[in-house]
Amino acid sequence: MNVKTVSTEPFDDQKPGTSGLRKQVPTFQKPNYLENFVQSIFDSLEGYQGETFVLGGDGRYYNRPAIQTILKMAAANGVGKMLVGRGGILSTPAASCVIRKNQAFGGIILSASHNPGGPEGDFGIKYNVTNGGPAPEKVTEAIFARTKAIDTYKILEADDIDLDQLGSQQLGAMKVEVIDSVADYAELMESLFDFDRIKELLTSGNFRMCMDSLHAVTGPYAKEIFENRLGAPAGTVQNGTPLEDFGGGHPDPNLVYAHDLVEVMYGDDAPDFGAASDGDGDRNMILGRQFFVTPSDSLAVLAANAKLVPGYSKGLAGVARSMPTSAAADRVAAKLGIDCYETPTGWKFFGNLLDAGKATLCGEESFGTGSDHVREKDGLWAVFFWLNILAVRQQSVEDIVAEHWQTYGRNYYSRHDYEGVDSNNANTLMEKLRSALPEMKGKKYGSYEVEYADDFSYTDPIDGSVSKKQGVRIGFTDGSRIVFRLSGTGTQGATLRVYLESYEADSSKHGLDPQDALSELINLADEIAQIRNYTGMEKPTVIT
Ligand code: G1P
Ligand code: ZN
Repeated sequence: MNVKTVSTEPFDDQKPGTSGLRKQVPTFQKPNYLENFVQSIFDSLEGYQGETFVLGGDGRYYNRPAIQTILKMAAANGVGKMLVGRGGILSTPAASCVIRKNQAFGGIILSASHNPGGPEGDFGIKYNVTNGGPAPEKVTEAIFARTKAIDTYKILEADDIDLDQLGSQQLGAMKVEVIDSVADYAELMESLFDFDRIKELLTSGNFRMCMDSLHAVTGPYAKEIFENRLGAPAGTVQNGTPLEDFGGGHPDPNLVYAHDLVEVMYGDDAPDFGAASDGDGDRNMILGRQFFVTPSDSLAVLAANAKLVPGYSKGLAGVARSMPTSAAADRVAAKLGIDCYETPTGWKFFGNLLDAGKATLCGEESFGTGSDHVREKDGLWAVFFWLNILAVRQQSVEDIVAEHWQTYGRNYYSRHDYEGVDSNNANTLMEKLRSALPEMKGKKYGSYEVEYADDFSYTDPIDGSVSKKQGVRIGFTDGSRIVFRLSGTGTQGATLRVYLESYEADSSKHGLDPQDALSELINLADEIAQIRNYTGMEKPTVIT
């Protein structure tokens, strides 16, 4: 078998975004496009020769051919051993788990998360470091710098590996071990949660749940754990067969895209508990019977009830949330007497806090929750956490959340997305906002008075690195706030995200629809940022 050195030219669009490099499939299929990025990863690492790496993806279109290419490139670049999920499948949290368990040097995860798949859909690749988490910015910047200068890549001339055959195979000097995609992850979940109690709940006959895997990667994980190990009836997991194009759907667990689940959970005779996960298994949506749990609230409820769960019974070191996430978790942290950290959007910012033992639970408003058990957010983990709480408390999801609001007050919260906006217009909107910030303090809009207005900047408390321009925040004297930022994960045009939040202490006012509770702020967001004007849209494309 020969190592071939292939000449190539740089592409100028390989800058990793919020979570790795994401492009449409035809872009990745361009000659050398994937190869350049993979070689840039290896070129920017040091001391990896002979080491173990982990490789897997969410099973979307182009997963298998990309894996074959990456294996041959890894072998040509001197990787010692590659652990690959069977069929090329590893959910993002499972990949993180496998990296940690094997103390691997790093891992390559193929996913475009919740973006649609298929020949015209999206594909993505990201590099995770040895703690199992997404590469920090200094690593992604080094990779990007390399993509701009690359002139050759190395690849082994060899036959494809059989990805469906468990066990060891040889690829040049590199060992390829095809591993069970589910086993290590299932074992980790069993070590954290009270599986006996959850099993009792799921087999009691008075509790029904519905898990929607949206034809994406969590199907095999959910079927194995809920149905095979925890005794939930067959059919508990719906849309549980991963498909390369996710059945044509948009594998994003929210009220719009998880419509099958919403139909079940808001229908007559709805089950007690519903959940969904995204393309690569790191997001979650939690529903009760005809009841939606806002991700920000979910994080707060998990934090408040963590002591009921074996893996967290000793208490939490701290909690962390991304800046646009509501402050519901802050209130729990204050009551528990622990720190609450506010980080920029993107899971990579939690890594240092988790490694340093400063935070145990983390969450984002974008349906992401997780803990120090891995270094990615973890969709099914959140589902187990809720099930464990439900099994102990023997109350409905709605009652648990209502009680939570009674104790802590309710942070009304909503995110309005404007997708597919012309990039120039979106940038102009943000620039105009930024330039207006210095004069905003003290300004009055109806009953609202601006208390602060800034562009969020974060200094990592562990390594001191500074991340600027992480979102425009306008906070009002009554504690409510509006946040504006542009998405860093989209592949077409720009997506404007507007995050709205207000606080209500009075429990007699906790029953409102968030869109009603936030209606004044919604109008204000448009007045301040001229959203309709710049987007050309009358209303958001997605409201969560
Ligand atoms: C979005 C979410 C963010 C999440 C990321 C990856 O990024 O908003 O919270 O970490 O996806 O799942 P965005 O498109 O807003 O940059
Ligand atoms: Zn995801």
